[in-house]
Amino acid sequence: MTHPLEELREAALREIESAPDEQALETARIKFLGKNGSISVWGEQMKSLPKEEKPVVGKLLNEVRIAVASALESRIARFRSEKESASLGKLDISLPGTPHEIGALHPLTQMWERSIEIFRRMGFALADGPDIEDEWHCFDALNTPPEHPARSEQDTFYLPDGRLLRTHTSTVQIRTMESTRPPIRVIAPGAAYRNEEINATHGAQFHQIEGLYVDENVSVADLKGALEFFMRELFGPETEVEFRPHFFPFTEPSLECYVKSKALKGGEQWIEVAGSGVVHPAVFEQVNKARGDNAYDPEKWSGYAFGLGMDRLAMILFDIPDLRLFAQNDLRFLRQFA
Ligand code: PHE
Repeated sequence: MTHPLEELREAALREIESAPDEQALETARIKFLGKNGSISVWGEQMKSLPKEEKPVVGKLLNEVRIAVASALESRIARFRSEKESASLGKLDISLPGTPHEIGALHPLTQMWERSIEIFRRMGFALADGPDIEDEWHCFDALNTPPEHPARSEQDTFYLPDGRLLRTHTSTVQIRTMESTRPPIRVIAPGAAYRNEEINATHGAQFHQIEGLYVDENVSVADLKGALEFFMRELFGPETEVEFRPHFFPFTEPSLECYVKSKALKGGEQWIEVAGSGVVHPAVFEQVNKARGDNAYDPEKWSGYAFGLGMDRLAMILFDIPDLRLFAQNDLRFLRQFA
């Protein structure tokens, strides 16, 4: 004879198996396993059973409860997976995907990376300084007195509080010497700003690599050797390099560096690419004053410095006619360097 609990189990499993949807399953769950469901009610009734029947019926009740619960669970899982495959079935995997655009480095960044790599081989470390500067780091410390034209508002962007956008990366020479004892050999790539009439060769923001080398017995010959090596690495071994006398307040002597190379467009022309010179002793004196020591004793230390025009170098190397192209974000231009 089958126990009423077994009949209950068969009825429950039949109802679960034939449930047409999740809603019907939920109704079945409540009917059998809910608080007042028939299986739960059997649990209550256990109390009134004679002692000797309790273990047998208890065991059976437990089996029934587990069987019904697991049948519910697997039926729900089946409904869910049917739903999922129905919606996946609508997916057309033959449609083309969304193309993934791969970016590339900006030509100026490429120029910087190539240049930095060459200087690294020559033993230069990287140095850094802020774009927003004070007058002392941009001018006074670089032996540029208040009456100097570079300090007029016509040439320099001043902030209301008297600070300014650095007009050259030479500020990093000072910042490096303030925090580091000689000898030093650093380059500082960065932006500089001048209040210029904007045209094909001049922008309000441009980019430089500053170089500073301080050691014992540094001479113009070391400077020329370093820049010549750099230019030939960058533009090719046939590149000619020439130095012409110039004036900067913070170097003495001061030299402008020109290059000429058949490999470059405009071949036979000398192109100015850097300002440079031997560090002026007055600069060391200013740094000593700021440091409060004599770490840069001009009697013991000497050095050279240079400022390379990155935009200019990139224009030459990549044959770019107009500086403004660098900042216009025109993909037709940028793609050519990807
Ligand atoms: N700071 C100068 C400029 O921007 C270049 C320069 C750097 C000159 C270092 C001499 C030494 O024109």
